[in-house]
Amino acid sequence: MITKTVYIYRAFERFWHWTQALLIMFLALTGFEIHGSIEFFGFEAAVTYHNVAAYALIILIVFAIFWHLTTGEWRQYIPSLTHVRTYMNYYVFGIFRDEPHPTRKSVLSKLNPLQKLTYFGLKVLIIPGMLISGLFYIFYRYPQKHGIEALNIESLEIIAIIHTAGAFLLLAFLIVHLYLMTTGETVFSNLRAMLTGYEQLHEEEEDQGINIQVISEADEEEKA
Ligand code: HEM
Repeated sequence: MITKTVYIYRAFERFWHWTQALLIMFLALTGFEIHGSIEFFGFEAAVTYHNVAAYALIILIVFAIFWHLTTGEWRQYIPSLTHVRTYMNYYVFGIFRDEPHPTRKSVLSKLNPLQKLTYFGLKVLIIPGMLISGLFYIFYRYPQKHGIEALNIESLEIIAIIHTAGAFLLLAFLIVHLYLMTTGETVFSNLRAMLTGYEQLHEEEEDQGINIQVISEADEEEKA
């Protein structure tokens, strides 16, 4: 089958992806130290690092929202239930029988239906949940600085449960994400695409009327 090199992940997208990944892993490391599950930096340092990384993540999220809105890339994440079953069957059975992916990736449609659902949940529920519960934590714990009355919450218990449950969900996501990363055309093809921006896609997509961007056009866009 003929393949073409396609520019699929733009520079900001790759920067955002890897910075977010590093920050979330660092937040997990420091967070689970605060939680008491591991020992690495020492509790006090872990709290300081966790707060700094959290603010860095918030700044990154603001830029990422701006980028998604201005480029229209937010549309990639609109979930749809079409083909969800096909994909579930694929990930449970087909993938182990070496069957091809049920749909093909393109510049206009980078995510498969299950990815759309997962990333939508991540962006709309889990990450905002972590951010809001984390901010509640910060402003609750230092009342003399920020005025606890304004938040008017009785105890930290529910905040701690939401934040810790979110941390476990993010950890589970990370493990599944790393496994799925290896299930592309080759073990490293998805990783290489997120590092370089370029991926080999099947040419037949053009025949299906899906607009794909070939390498020469991509080069022009990089230069622009
Ligand atoms: C912008 C997002 C975030 C903010 C503002 C934030 C803030 C905080 C704060 C203030 C604490 C309490 C520290 C203390 O006790 O002094 C905390 C605890 C914690 N954080 Fe975060 N955090 C964020 C994201 C994350 C992420 C992404 C993870 C994991 C992937 C995470 C995992 C944890 C864990 C496990 C704890 C300990 C919870 C407990 O035992 O009560 N946090 N976070």
